[in-house]
Amino acid sequence: MNGSDHIAVGGKPVAAPPGERDGHKDPARRFFGRRKGPSLSARQQSLLAGVGRRIGIGVSSGEYPGALEPRDLFAGLEGGADIWFEIGFGKGEHLAWQAARNPDVGLIGCEPYLNGYVGLLDKIQDKGLGNVRAYADDARHLLWRFPDACLARVFLLHPDPWPKNRHAARRFVRPDNLDLLARVMADGAELRIGTDHPVYRRWTSVHMAAHPDFEWLAEGPDDWRTRPVDWPETRYEVKALEGGATYFRYRRRCRRCAAATATPANMAKTI
Ligand SMILES: C[S@@+](CC[C@H](N)C(=O)[O-])C[C@H]1O[C@@H](n2cnc3c(N)ncnc32)[C@H](O)[C@@H]1O
Repeated sequence: MNGSDHIAVGGKPVAAPPGERDGHKDPARRFFGRRKGPSLSARQQSLLAGVGRRIGIGVSSGEYPGALEPRDLFAGLEGGADIWFEIGFGKGEHLAWQAARNPDVGLIGCEPYLNGYVGLLDKIQDKGLGNVRAYADDARHLLWRFPDACLARVFLLHPDPWPKNRHAARRFVRPDNLDLLARVMADGAELRIGTDHPVYRRWTSVHMAAHPDFEWLAEGPDDWRTRPVDWPETRYEVKALEGGATYFRYRRRCRRCAAATATPANMAKTI
């Protein structure tokens, strides 16, 4: 199989070959969340068959860097248009909000929980959004195929916290996934991470500070405690506000500029 096999866009999603879908023996490459909830209603099934067939992306979970150019997923978008990417969009409130306000941007979202995925399809239909593509599985399947420096913005909003120590390796924020994001993000691209969970807040702060390719865009507490105006509340955020959300914004450092490392000053920027 080569990198262009098992890609379907705007068509029926292609099932990953047996053994690939979650079949990676390596636990670091597996998805541990849930995929299925209550049975889909007739309306939800018709959304899947209609909007889903039009905007859904189907790929296998193989690792083929450069095999999938994200701009090719958008027929009507300007050649140089920015592509934004959301990991785990839940029911798609944030993704749909961004798509409606940024019609010149192409937005790609990933959500393995089918009932959540269908929630986005509903919003796409309702708002008539033409600039969204979606993948109903692990975001890394797409990231593993994207070429270098192709994304202008990445959102990771209220990722599953996996608060127990023995599950820490399941957290999305971890060195291998950050290396992957650093590869596919363009110089100067922004990574937004939202969390209300104290364990995840500290974890994110420490891991991001240790990564040489990201720079934290915060000067003081207001910058991480106050929600930016172009960052709408997500479903999880509304549910969990008693903890107080943290709004992390990082910039992907310029590749040619200083070969920055985690300097003591950088490390000090943790909370
Ligand atoms: C706690 S929910 C937050 C949903 C939404 N972002 C919000 O703030 O309302 C985390 C979501 O991330 C999804 N998720 C977890 N790991 C993922 C992965 N590797 N790729 C894509 N989505 C993932 C889960 O299915 C779940 O819906």
